[in-house]
Amino acid sequence: MRLSSSILLFAAVPTVLGDKHYFFSGFFSGSLIAGVEFDDATNNMTLVNNITIQSSTGSKWIAIDERKQNLYVSATGQYQSYSITANRSLASTRNITLPPSCQNANFIAAARTPPYTVFGAPYSTGCAAHAVSVDSTGTLQSILANITYNGTSGVHGLAISPGADFVYSADDMGNAVWTHSFSDDNVTSTAQTLQYLPAPSGSDPRHLAVHPAGSWAYVVYEAANEVAVYARDEATGLLRDTNATYALLPEGFTNTSSYWADEVMFSVPPSASSSSSPKYLIASTRSRTSTSPGYVSAFALSSTGAITEQLFLLPTTASGGGANAVAPASFSEEYFAITDSAANFIEVWKIDNGGKTAAAVAQLGGFSGGPANVVWVN
Ligand SMILES: *[C@@H]1O[C@H](CO)[C@@H](O)[C@H](O)[C@H]1NC(C)=O
Ligand SMILES: *[C@@H]1O[C@H](CO)[C@@H](O)[C@H](O)[C@H]1NC(C)=O
Ligand SMILES: *[C@@H]1O[C@H](CO)[C@@H](O)[C@H](O)[C@H]1NC(C)=O
Ligand SMILES: *[C@@H]1O[C@H](CO)[C@@H](O)[C@H](O)[C@H]1NC(C)=O
Ligand SMILES: *[C@@H]1O[C@H](CO)[C@@H](O)[C@H](O)[C@H]1NC(C)=O
Ligand SMILES: *[C@@H]1O[C@H](CO)[C@@H](O)[C@H](O)[C@H]1NC(C)=O
Ligand SMILES: *[C@@H]1O[C@H](CO)[C@@H](O)[C@H](O)[C@H]1NC(C)=O
Ligand SMILES: *[C@@H]1O[C@H](CO)[C@@H](O)[C@H](O)[C@H]1NC(C)=O
Ligand SMILES: *[C@@H]1O[C@H](CO)[C@@H](O)[C@H](O)[C@H]1NC(C)=O
Repeated sequence: MRLSSSILLFAAVPTVLGDKHYFFSGFFSGSLIAGVEFDDATNNMTLVNNITIQSSTGSKWIAIDERKQNLYVSATGQYQSYSITANRSLASTRNITLPPSCQNANFIAAARTPPYTVFGAPYSTGCAAHAVSVDSTGTLQSILANITYNGTSGVHGLAISPGADFVYSADDMGNAVWTHSFSDDNVTSTAQTLQYLPAPSGSDPRHLAVHPAGSWAYVVYEAANEVAVYARDEATGLLRDTNATYALLPEGFTNTSSYWADEVMFSVPPSASSSSSPKYLIASTRSRTSTSPGYVSAFALSSTGAITEQLFLLPTTASGGGANAVAPASFSEEYFAITDSAANFIEVWKIDNGGKTAAAVAQLGGFSGGPANVVWVN
């Protein structure tokens, strides 16, 4: 493998508090990907790179690889890969063309273990999601397998198991959660349906996250504005709905249809080991009214990944628009970014007081394309 200076810059140097950190933000429209620097000592957040990508219709979801060498973009009609250059810009490396009736790529994620297969999902009824191969540098190669659902399904989010041997799908239009097996022995790749779990009526699973220790999966219910707890069998990969849910709206709110929950993600443990245990689960909801705030919540987790406590549920600065997507920082479990596509800003929040509270410590505004989601480089 060719070692580029970007590897030396971003991967070989462990980052700690007191450093300057860098992240990319995608946008719902336009051609911009923003490169942003955040200094946790001064809370100075600055747009340092205006990057023009090969899409004129936004980058609805972006993902970074485990080695921090590539950015993957779900753009209309394409999955795209970019290599991260030494000057922290992006160089287009490959596009994968999507089927004509499934152009609305809304989600993309990269497996954390070799061969670092990338998974993407177009959000339209009846569309399959895809496993896409990458070469040794992380450049997208070709669609390895279709991950198929029902004619009524519309999958908005995917989660890859720690060993990349199972793929979990949040079927928002079909109100279900799916489990597929995935195998890639670099000769044949197969994705097979293992499980179709209808969600309670009116839930609408949107995104989900599988704990690195393997025993739990958390699903954000967009319509119900809840985080749902699913137990996971590590050997078979199968999920079991425990029926336990946590509200992403304050007690007493009966107007759930004025909100739509967005994201659920684990904080990033200091050790790069995939088996290390995250401290928090962070989830968010958006308000459908720009004058009312969305909400963000964090949960404490046991070492096996069980929720032990809902730590806080706080209003966000604004509605979140179509976003309010939380992105836990890679340098500290106490920090996360959040995007607001209506007010057109990106914020960094800090969790304080032993996890009991959190607040925005920096805001960067003035965008026009609607910040969608953030990935941290360091
Ligand atoms: C904020 O960070 C930017 C980018 O690193 C830098 O150019 C600027 O001087 C910093 N501003 C302050 C007030 O530290
Ligand atoms: C990025 O673009 C914005 C808007 O055009 C501009 O104000 C800013 O100076 C640019 N920043 C850099 C680092 O190019
Ligand atoms: C970053 O480096 C690439 C070459 O890797 C170059 O094409 C590009 O112009 C540079 N961008 C900036 C903003 O300096
Ligand atoms: C990717 O597709 C865009 C058009 O959508 C094109 O401009 C660009 O050159 C392509 N990139 C590569 C590496 O083929
Ligand atoms: C995926 O599905 C499409 C459309 O049905 C088909 O053309 C393609 O060959 C399939 N790809 C794989 C790898 O099975
Ligand atoms: C969707 O597919 C699953 C698994 O094949 C099946 O059990 C279920 O009945 C189907 N639902 C609809 C609405 O087609
Ligand atoms: C599969 O991967 C191994 C190890 O990377 C390699 O030696 C082998 O040539 C690959 N086989 C194919 C068919 O690509
Ligand atoms: C969850 O609720 C369903 C429907 O009420 C019930 O059939 C199932 O037994 C419950 N599961 C658990 C683990 O309590
Ligand atoms: C939802 O209801 C709560 C409690 O009555 C109220 O405070 C809040 O403003 C309402 N939200 C919207 C978006 O109307």
